[in-house]
Amino acid sequence: MKILGIETSCDETAAAVVEDGVRILSNVVVSQIDIFAEYGGVIPEVAARSHLEVMLPVVDKALLDAKCSWDEIDAIAVTHAPGLLGSLLIGTLTARTLAILHDKPLYAVHHLKSHVYANWLDSSGPSFPLLAMVVSGGHTQILYMSGHNQFEIIGTTHDDAVGECFDKVAKILGLPYPGGPSIAKAAKTGDPLKYKLPHPKVEGLDFSFSGLKTAVLRAVQKEAGVPISYPSHQLAELLSMQQVADFAASFQKTAVDILLEKLEAALRKYPGVKSVAFAGGVSANETLREKAYEKFSGINVWFPDSKLSGDNGAMVAAACYYEIESGVLPTDSYTLNIYPRISIESRDPSTD
Ligand code: KG4
Ligand code: ZN
Repeated sequence: MKILGIETSCDETAAAVVEDGVRILSNVVVSQIDIFAEYGGVIPEVAARSHLEVMLPVVDKALLDAKCSWDEIDAIAVTHAPGLLGSLLIGTLTARTLAILHDKPLYAVHHLKSHVYANWLDSSGPSFPLLAMVVSGGHTQILYMSGHNQFEIIGTTHDDAVGECFDKVAKILGLPYPGGPSIAKAAKTGDPLKYKLPHPKVEGLDFSFSGLKTAVLRAVQKEAGVPISYPSHQLAELLSMQQVADFAASFQKTAVDILLEKLEAALRKYPGVKSVAFAGGVSANETLREKAYEKFSGINVWFPDSKLSGDNGAMVAAACYYEIESGVLPTDSYTLNIYPRISIESRDPSTD
């Protein structure tokens, strides 16, 4: 079964053709990073406009690269939740139109499911039951999966997502957007033990990352010898390159330690779990990968190929394939809706 996956939930316009949820026949991603590097973050209206400009060429290229005609496409899958409203609208309206035009069944896929299913692309996939650790720009959650398409949230962040925290700390340190890769790069020449940053005290398997961002801000102000009223966008000018590297390394180590400590606690609570699967943009982080393999040597640890950690259409098609296998029915192409904030556990309200 060949599925065309379409993804536009944030600042990547992506389409891919995947066979049987596993084999990537094409994977086209147009990133808006260059546009938003100038502004230091995503501007939703600009993102939506950019999606509109490249959406159809991206779909055409996905079919061309896959050497696939419309006749050979069995279904269309599109991200309908969660994400930026305007961005989601461009992808879903395109998918709806194409589904009607080419008479294909249309499936609405949750973005976090897609990230988790990146672990099945070009691989046999993790075995169940498993814990999925979603670490993206918008989410930080630990999910329990008893089988395909079965998701239970067992831990979530009370405030910022870990990727958001990387992005905000990068801004404080004067590093370019997106913050995750810039922090990882700067951290290479830094001392991860130079600055001691606090671990938030959050009950159970939940997270909090806003305190860590503030702790970095306070430590930078202290190091620079300025009061807390000092404009934060000018702080980085007062730091040496070595200090920036040391802050990046210390922050990265703390964020990774927090994630892995919670995952360790989750594994204690769910002793029958056979594998852990990381998902989302932050799962590209090399320190996270190294430390996770080191810490959980007794269990199967999965990471998507780092090219598939960020947003892409292949993971949408993979998630859709396993939804179809689990008996999920297509959505009405005329009424498919978007849900910018809906949880992975919720049923699609449009099917009520
Ligand atoms: O999954 P994703 O592409 O989009 C969302 O669904 O949010 O995640 C984007 C996030 C951004 O916050 C970005 O800074 C972070 O993933 N990220 C990283 C790395 N690459 C991307 N964070 C840490 N280390 C990286 N290498
Ligand atoms: Zn994402």
